[in-house]
Amino acid sequence: MKRILLGLCLLLSTSLYAWEKDVLISTPHTSLLLSAPENGELKIVYYGERIHPNQIGQIHQAGLAYNKPAYPVFGIECRDEAALQVKHADGNLSLDMVVTDVQTINQKDADLTQITLKDKVYPFQVKVMYKAFKHSDIIETWTEITHQEKKAVTLQQFASAYLPIRKGDVWISHLHGSWANEAKLTTEPLTTGMKVIKNKDGARNAHTDHAEVMISLDGRPLENHGPVIGAALCWSGNYRLRFDTLDDNFHYFFAGINEDASEYTLEPKEVFATPELALTYSNEGLGGASRSFHRWARQNKIHHADRPRDILLNSWEGVYFNINEEGMVQMMKDIADLGGELFVMDDGWFGDKYPRLSDNSSLGDWVVDTRKLPNGLSALTRAAKEQGIKFGIWLEPEMTNLTSELYEKHPDWIICQDNRQPRPGRGGTQLVLDLSNPDVQDFIYQTIDRLMTENPEIAYIKWDSNMGVANYGSSYLPKGKQSHLNIDYHRGLCKVMQRIRAKYPDLVIQNCASGGGRANYGLMPYFEEFWTSDNTEALQRIYMQWGTSYFFPAVAMGSHVASSPSHQTGRLMPLKFRFDVAMTGRLGMEMQPKNMTANERDFARKAIATYKRIRPVIQQGDLYRILSPYDDKGAASLLYTNAEKTHAVFFAFKTLHYMNQILPRFKMDGLDPDKQYRLTELNVQGNKPLPFEGKVFSGSLLMKEGLELPLEYEYASRVLEVVEVGE
Ligand code: GLA
Repeated sequence: MKRILLGLCLLLSTSLYAWEKDVLISTPHTSLLLSAPENGELKIVYYGERIHPNQIGQIHQAGLAYNKPAYPVFGIECRDEAALQVKHADGNLSLDMVVTDVQTINQKDADLTQITLKDKVYPFQVKVMYKAFKHSDIIETWTEITHQEKKAVTLQQFASAYLPIRKGDVWISHLHGSWANEAKLTTEPLTTGMKVIKNKDGARNAHTDHAEVMISLDGRPLENHGPVIGAALCWSGNYRLRFDTLDDNFHYFFAGINEDASEYTLEPKEVFATPELALTYSNEGLGGASRSFHRWARQNKIHHADRPRDILLNSWEGVYFNINEEGMVQMMKDIADLGGELFVMDDGWFGDKYPRLSDNSSLGDWVVDTRKLPNGLSALTRAAKEQGIKFGIWLEPEMTNLTSELYEKHPDWIICQDNRQPRPGRGGTQLVLDLSNPDVQDFIYQTIDRLMTENPEIAYIKWDSNMGVANYGSSYLPKGKQSHLNIDYHRGLCKVMQRIRAKYPDLVIQNCASGGGRANYGLMPYFEEFWTSDNTEALQRIYMQWGTSYFFPAVAMGSHVASSPSHQTGRLMPLKFRFDVAMTGRLGMEMQPKNMTANERDFARKAIATYKRIRPVIQQGDLYRILSPYDDKGAASLLYTNAEKTHAVFFAFKTLHYMNQILPRFKMDGLDPDKQYRLTELNVQGNKPLPFEGKVFSGSLLMKEGLELPLEYEYASRVLEVVEVGE
């Protein structure tokens, strides 16, 4: 009896405890635990491996509870960095927020928990949102800020989210680069002081630094082991990721819009939503965290990521601005002959009064240049149809040039201060349109709508953006809200994309910005893919695509076979190497196919047919990074496998070449140790068969011992198909 009573008491206390203040937010393998006592402070208690409600007490008893404010505000606590800092209508600078409501809404793919915080004195409210996905280990978190004060409140700092990171041997991995050298992996220990990763380009946000980071909690980052938190800010504008280290046990991570020059005047009842920060936790190292991002992205964050991506030829590096009908038709015939599925006509097809002959004119004048294309776009879409392929086209809708009819008609549509001359960008004449202005939004929407209405056969748009914001000022925004421009630009862009998507859900749109300037999750819900870099040289791409793969899946990563010598680096490389690298992403070509030899055409035709067969594994499979090019071991290697681990594709590339070189063994992470697999080499070109060609090996052997893989020559590469054999 005594025992029963004790049990009942314990049960009651645990459940009361759970009902009264604990908020446990879980994905299949992770949990975030918050403490949300009514009229008390919202605190973060735990983020890590999934826990059961009956383990909540243990988290506290073991001293594991962080007990830090979940969304720290400035004013009462003044010493530490804050996620939110405001100036009230009466000039007061302080906030003191308490929990007033907790609700969880069951959505189709996720559970959405909304925690309402109210200031003790001011009619000022923040909803802290946590969206826990049911089929991937991602929790998106953001805030919705509003108030009912008599006059506007100024938002000075407004991070999307905040997370304490227990000190220890913490390392961060993030992507840094520049045009034609995007997404280079940087791995470093997190030291004291403040580490800031940020962007201030205004229009594009992935050229220099990326808005994503991996945080390895327990020593130097490992690919398949160890605890890692991954964070990706879903915002296409300026951002700031900050790590601050205080004199206690924690580093403090903040992520959100970059507030520089972006102070926001929030009117009474207006709701300011910060962008989502996607968080993941994995005990399977960087690879585990990447796979979670990829799964979530494919299911929830990339437009139509479940649809196979067409193999395309893009005209840019083949002809640059020299567009004409004959040349386009010839390229279409060539890619159709090679087995491709789509042709994309790049820059140079438009402009009436001012023909687009180089990068210094005509943006905004989206009419066909009939000197180059006398029979218009319809002749091209017809030719594509005749070849049995789809047709795509390049546009740069957010931009104009000083030399353009659009600018002559609407000089007030550009981003510029009222009283200054605009400082142009690309080509010495390019200008950014002011997307905070609804007329500009309408113009862009109507441009796409008109193009698609006149040419419903267009299946693909390459949406480019080749200039950052200069001349910070808007003739649309009121004088007192000029600092809204950076934010309102991206809100305007999203509005345009939402309208386009509502009417054209099946149009495939590539997100390009001077190469890889727009690989971000703010825009990917409206785009099928992004252009990874204007550098198409295969060796460089191994490094860039490796970095990009930390956060973005292959299905979204435009990856093209280009000519040799490379237009960017001058390197000469075999076609096989170029194909093998491009096949690790969304395969395409970006060269003049008429210059290929008969042998090269033959190889390309076979490789394209092979890619079609393995496309589901590459584009929908799980990625295992095996050997990092950044480790300087002379090679790089990765593997994609389907979810059932019955079909995998393995890639290995030589990245350095010298005599008597010792290369490591290649261990095929990601297979099932208990399955038997047959190995078959793909994209074979003249090389003598591998010793293990067609042979069967246990998953365990391939994973633990690995393969001795001959990579004899400079730019040698191997692709192996790994298929489970029946009993
Ligand atoms: C940008 C893109 C390129 C190409 C050019 C055209 O640089 O990244 O791929 O489309 O513009 O001007």
